[in-house]
Amino acid sequence: MVAASVAALRQTVGGWRRQGLRVALVPTMGALHEGHLSLMTLALERADRCVVSIFVNPTQFGPNEDLDKYPRQLARDLDLLAGAGVHLAFTPSPSEMYPEGFATTVRLGGPALGLETDFRPTFFDGVATVVAKLLLQTLPDCAIFGEKDYQQLCVIRQLARDLDIPVEIIGAPTIRDTSGLALSSRNAYLDAVQMVVARRLNAVLVEAAAALAGGDGPDSILVRAKRDLIGAGFRSVDYVEAREALALGPWRGGVEGRLLAAAWLGNTRLIDNVPIPARS
Ligand code: PAF
Repeated sequence: MVAASVAALRQTVGGWRRQGLRVALVPTMGALHEGHLSLMTLALERADRCVVSIFVNPTQFGPNEDLDKYPRQLARDLDLLAGAGVHLAFTPSPSEMYPEGFATTVRLGGPALGLETDFRPTFFDGVATVVAKLLLQTLPDCAIFGEKDYQQLCVIRQLARDLDIPVEIIGAPTIRDTSGLALSSRNAYLDAVQMVVARRLNAVLVEAAAALAGGDGPDSILVRAKRDLIGAGFRSVDYVEAREALALGPWRGGVEGRLLAAAWLGNTRLIDNVPIPARS
C-alpha cells in the first residue's frame, strides 16, 4: 500500500490504531539497501504494522551538497518494501511536506553541537524538522533509526524527549559488508578503487577505539587515526572524535564512549562510528 498524502497516511494509520494495533515508523530517504531492510525487520518485530517513509528531504542538504544527484529509485524501493512485508509506504512530494508558506524550523542544541554541525551547519535543523513532521503525521508507537548515523540518532532521541512526542525511539545496529564497511546509499557514488579505501574507515576506527579503551592518551590516538585515514587514501578528514555515548558530551574514559568520524573520498563524504567500551 502506498500513501502520497498526509491525509491518506493518517487515514490508514488511524484505522490500525482503532483496531488496537501497534505501529512502527521507519523514516528513510529511499535508495534502500540491506541496512534499511534490517530497520524494517526490527520494526516488524516491535510492532503489528510498519510504515516506511521515503522522502529525500531538501532542508537537510546544504547549498553545495548532493541533493540533485542523491539516488532516487522509487519503483525498486517499493518492490523491496513489498518483499520485506512493510504495510505502508509513505511517499510525499516536497510540496506535500513543505507547502507554500512553510516557515518553521526545529533547532536543537545538546547532541547536535559539534561533529556534523561543524561541517554541515544546517543539517540537523533539516533532519529535526522533517523527523518531527513525520512523527506527528504518523503518530507511531515506535520509530527506528540506524546507529550508522549515530549523532542523528542522539539528536532524534533528544527531539522526541524535548518536544514531548509520545514515541519510543529505537536505535538499530549498523549493517556492514564483510570488510566492515557500513552500508550507505552514498556508497553508490564510489568507484572500485575508492571502495578499497572506504573499507579502511571502519578498521581504523576499531583500532583507535581499542587503544582509547586501553587507556592510551586520546589526543595522540585521534591524530594517528586521522593520519591513518589519509595514509589509506582518504582525501581529507573532517573529524575523528571521541564522545560520551549518550549525550555526546566530551569523553574522558570511565564511561561508554563513541568514536565518530567523517572523511572524504573524492567528492563523497563517508561517516562511521564505533563504540568505545568503558575502561574497567
Ligand atoms: O537518515 C536518513 O535517511 C534521514 O536523515 C532521515 C532520518 C530519513 C530524515 O530525512
